[in-house]
This record gives sequence, C-alpha cells and structure tokens, in this order.
Amino acid sequence: MSAEIGRAPAAGGASEQRRVHIVTWGCQMNVYDSDRLTDVLAGDGWRTTASPAEADLILLNTCHIRERAAEKLFSELGRLRRLKQARAEAGGRLRLVVAGCVAQAEGKEILRRAPFVDAVLGPQTTHRLPALLARADREGQAIDTEFPAAPKFDFLPEARARSGGPVAFLSIQEGCDKFCSFCVVPYTRGAEQSRPAEAVLAEARGLAESGAREITLLGQNVNAWRGRAPEGGNWSLAQLLGALSEIPGLARIRYTTSHPVDMDAALIAAHRDIPALMPFLHLPVQSGSDAVLKRMGRRHRAADYLRLVERLRAARPDIALSSDFIVGHPGESEADFAATLALVREVGFAQAFSFKYSPRPGTPAASAAGQVPEAEKKARLAALQALLREQQRRFNEAMIGRRLPVLFAGAGRQAGQAVGRSPYLQPVHAAAPAGRPEQLLGQIREVRILAALPNSLAATVESQEHACA
Ligand code: SAH
Ligand code: SF4
Ligand code: F3S
Repeated sequence: MSAEIGRAPAAGGASEQRRVHIVTWGCQMNVYDSDRLTDVLAGDGWRTTASPAEADLILLNTCHIRERAAEKLFSELGRLRRLKQARAEAGGRLRLVVAGCVAQAEGKEILRRAPFVDAVLGPQTTHRLPALLARADREGQAIDTEFPAAPKFDFLPEARARSGGPVAFLSIQEGCDKFCSFCVVPYTRGAEQSRPAEAVLAEARGLAESGAREITLLGQNVNAWRGRAPEGGNWSLAQLLGALSEIPGLARIRYTTSHPVDMDAALIAAHRDIPALMPFLHLPVQSGSDAVLKRMGRRHRAADYLRLVERLRAARPDIALSSDFIVGHPGESEADFAATLALVREVGFAQAFSFKYSPRPGTPAASAAGQVPEAEKKARLAALQALLREQQRRFNEAMIGRRLPVLFAGAGRQAGQAVGRSPYLQPVHAAAPAGRPEQLLGQIREVRILAALPNSLAATVESQEHACA
C-alpha cells in the first residue's frame, strides 16, 4: 500500500472509505483492465461507486481504436471539469485519472489540453496506479505510460471474480506485433506477451470456485498465445484450452479476438474435441478483397479465410461465425467492396461488427494515397450492414423451435424474466420458474426457442439443471 495516500481499508468503517467511479470504453480487454484497476485500488482502501457524484476519484478507461472514441474522452472531460470545480467550491476534492489506450497514445496532450486531470496511466502499468496517484498528489500532475520489461500480469493482485457471476473474462495475452496498416493497438498495447499457463489456470480455478461457469479468454491476438507450460516448454492455445476444460465447474470456454493467420490445425481440432469449447468464433477478416487485404497488411487472402471457415465447419459443423469489417480503407474501390459483400454472402455470419475506416494518426494507412470520401464510406457501410443484419436475422430465426442449453447469468428487463446466452452467444430471455430469475443464476438449462427478435431470442425453460454444456 502506498504510504502517501494510503488509509487502511477498514479504518473508520466503510463510510469513510474513498470511492472510485470507473467508466470503461473500448474492448473487453479494457473491461478486464478496469476490474484489475478496481482490485489494485481495493488493496489501497478504495471501493467502487456507481455514482460519479459520490466519487472521490473518477477514472476513465479509454479506447483509441477510432476517432470518435478519443473525441468522446475530451467531451467527457469537459463535463468532469465542471464537476471537479463544483466539488472544490464545496470544500471537497475530486481526482480525475485517464487510463487506457488514449492515455497511452496521447498522454502528454491530455495533460496539456486538460490541466485539471490529475494523472494519466497507460494500459501496461495498471498495477502502478496507487504510486501514480501519490506522485500526482506531490507534483500536481503525473503520467505513467511506460512499457515495462516485465508484464503487468506479474504484479497485479490475484483477480477477484467480479460480482462472482457465472460469466467471467480472463486476460491471457496482451499486445500485438502485426501492425495492420489502420490499427493503433500495437502502439497502445505494445508487443505481444503471453501469460504463463500456470497463472492462467490458477486464475481460472479461482473464478470457477467463486461461481464462474463460463470463461472467455481475452487477448488482442488471443490465438497467438504461446505461454510457458507448467512443466517447462511452451503450450499452444489448443493445449491451454484442453487444460482449462478439466477444471471442475467450468462448463463453457470461449476466446476472443483471433487473427486468421494464427488459427492453426490444433486449435481447429480443439473445436471438434473439447465439448466445453463453445461453437462460436469471432474471426475478423476486415475485407474480402485481396488487394485491400494486402494494403492492410493482413497476411492472408480472401481464399485463405474461406478455407479456414471450411476447416472449422468440418471440425464443428454448427460453429457460428462472427467477424469485423472495415469499409473504405485507403485504396478500396467499388470492385474491392463488392468482393467484401461476396465473401459475406459466401460465409454467412451469425453476427458481425463493421466500421467506416477511421484514420489514426501515426498509422501507415492514415497518410496513404487513395483516401475514400466520407459519403462513399457511409454508403458502403450501410450496404454491408444491411446484408449482415439480414444474415443475423436468418441465423436467429433458424433457432425457432429448437432446444438449446442456455447459461443463465442475470435478470431480464421484465419482471420475473431471466437472461442468459446460447452456445452461439445469442442473448436468450425466458420467464423464470416461479417468477424468480435468481433461481436460474449460474445454471445451464435446456430451453425451447419461441421467437427471434433482432438481437435476442425469446424462450421457455424446459429442463432441470443441465449436466453438461
Ligand atoms: N485484433 C483484432 C482486432 C482489434 S481492433 C484483429 O486483428 O482483428 C477491433 C476492430 O476495430 C478491428 O477488427 C477493426 O475492424 C476495427 N478497427 C481497428 N482500427 C480501425 C480503424 N482505424 N478504423 C476503423 N475500424 C478499425
Ligand atoms: Fe490491430 Fe491488426 Fe493487431 Fe488486430 S492484428 S490488433 S487489427 S494490428
Ligand atoms: Fe480500444 Fe485499446 Fe481495446 S484502442 S479496442 S481499448 S486495445
């Protein structure tokens, strides 16, 4: 614990504890990091609050992936400046910390443009937040955006199962060495690092013991994971999945996000051999045009992706696929875009994310020739999204009348309703027996699908607790 700002967690009772409000943007890695930041702060006497008005510290965990994400930060900071001023006028104190990928990319700029921000913290040094706050107290403002030699995982306190819920995330890999033309991640998250298998297994066992039944392994390039094996040497992700599937209580495993070039034969076979591995894979392709894929530096062609899909479907015929797409990358012609639509038609996605290309300062594509006009990007995105929406609708409607095992994880919007996920990651809601959703929490039940809504399925619960996934 940091002496400068430390106050024993129990001192004076909970009412005197300092409170932190954390806002998280961006990917699931950021969600995971926010949980770890909560753990680090808890060790220093902080507890979380859902209300910014009650907070002594507001931490914004930011995303830099597209332009809008960074704009959002500065508009939010404008609002928080007024809150901080009002607090000071009332004799109180509000600290502001910016963490995450915008912090990494634009840390100094943030301190310059928003001098009322106390501290800036990059994604690789989350474990050093208490020391950073102490330094900010001494020096007025402080920044820590280093890429330390030893991975942050070595320093973070043991993860607590956030909320102890049945669905948990576990970060196993950080960073990216691929440097796709358009992407900031290699600059904000640094080089690829894999956590040792033993550390991953220990965290997974802890999560299972505190009630997790499903774990999603996270990494910017999760399928590039090559971690130290428990008995020395290295494991591949397929081997790690095998070991995780042995953990008692863990019924479901997922992993995200994968790069097509790292989808090796063993990992494909794992989808056939490991029943706990859910039949859903997020496998971003970005474009269906070989010329664009080449400019993007994606290291695969459209045909390679189609072949991968074929092999995955041979291993696990019901596997549902999801993807990411960028339209309007520099140099993308109408014919290139048509090739993307053709790939989508050929694969048939269960769901997908699609974006207009957004130039990111410092990345090669930002200064490349052939920038596509905004109106063109907009039109292409609309056409692509219409097709993807249609595929998602068809995929969901094909579930009507089927029995599916659903892991229930919470209460729905309507009274007495429980919500969970199908094996294919679709949200499913159903009336809970006796109108008590909490009784289904953490259980895998067979349901009958009654209807398909745009983003979820309506079902009725049919079975007692399901023995396996
Ligand atoms: N590691 C993953 C994706 C990480 S970023 C992969 O390799 O696929 C998540 C998604 O954001 C990307 O798949 C991409 O579709 C989108 N994205 C990244 N940079 C972008 C940019 N500059 N403009 C628009 N979309 C972008
Ligand atoms: Fe970004 Fe490409 Fe790395 Fe994915 S693989 S994080 S898109 S650089
Ligand atoms: Fe955003 Fe950083 Fe994730 S840029 S998508 S929060 S890795």
